Amino acid sequence: MTPSDSLLDVARRLASEAGDLIREGRASAQVAATKSSSVDIVTQMDLASERLLRDRLAQWRPGDGILGEEGDDVESETGITWVLDPIDGTVNYLYGIPHYGVSVAAVSGEPTTHGWTLEAGAISDATGVLWSAARGQGAFRDGESLTRAGDAPPLERTLLATGFQYLAERREAQGRVAAAMVSRVRDIRRLGAGAIDLCHVAAGTVDAYYEHGLQPWDIAAGALIAREAGLMVAGIDGGPADESVLIAAAPERWHELRDALVEAGAAHLWDAAGR
Ligand code: IPD
Ligand code: CA
Ligand code: CA
Repeated sequence: MTPSDSLLDVARRLASEAGDLIREGRASAQVAATKSSSVDIVTQMDLASERLLRDRLAQWRPGDGILGEEGDDVESETGITWVLDPIDGTVNYLYGIPHYGVSVAAVSGEPTTHGWTLEAGAISDATGVLWSAARGQGAFRDGESLTRAGDAPPLERTLLATGFQYLAERREAQGRVAAAMVSRVRDIRRLGAGAIDLCHVAAGTVDAYYEHGLQPWDIAAGALIAREAGLMVAGIDGGPADESVLIAAAPERWHELRDALVEAGAAHLWDAAGR
């Protein structure tokens, strides 16, 4: 790769190479460390994947910034920052549940959920599918263009994905919202990898997704893929999705889902948890 390759091509190549690495290393995955709680784990393959991504970026995109889950921030000299989740769905990865992947995004501007513009992103998942998107250029599953087909189902027939945090008191608060939501929709899925969940909303494998407490590397590539496929991805007020909450749904269903989530207590979740 050379600096003249597009951000989309670089993102695809990065995600593919790291995706191959983690799929090949899956059988020997071992916990290398824990983070916010004893169930918030890092495997040696998270570290190896992040190392590979950073090495390639140093060769292919010198001067770009890096915001990666498992390493120090690198400030951008070019205006582009790479937002990296070396394995999204690490618990699935450890257990061998085939719903995990590598998420890579290039953003311009401030590398924060409120300051960035999502330029390009790619996600290589457990099954070897490469999901990708570039701003204004659409979303793709491998070579095939992804566009939301048909009207969204009504809320009561919406298959809704969500996720939970590693801290038990936060999960408890999230559980209360999920308990209130489960009777409002077709059913709820907790698949275990936020970035991949966003790809599945883009593909229509689930109808909608919301989650509290996501980090920039969970959001960046998947949000762009979902948005470029025609979904609305936003926070509770319709502004940028961020750590407080992300809601992804068809534009014609988004506000109704948001209102149901607000009724379920989703607007002030961490306050409700005493934080
Ligand atoms: C986690 C996954 C999970 C979500 C958590 C994330 P990780 O990322 O995306 O689905 O519920 O909030 O932290 O730790 O596997 O990279
Ligand atoms: Ca993640
Ligand atoms: Ca991760």
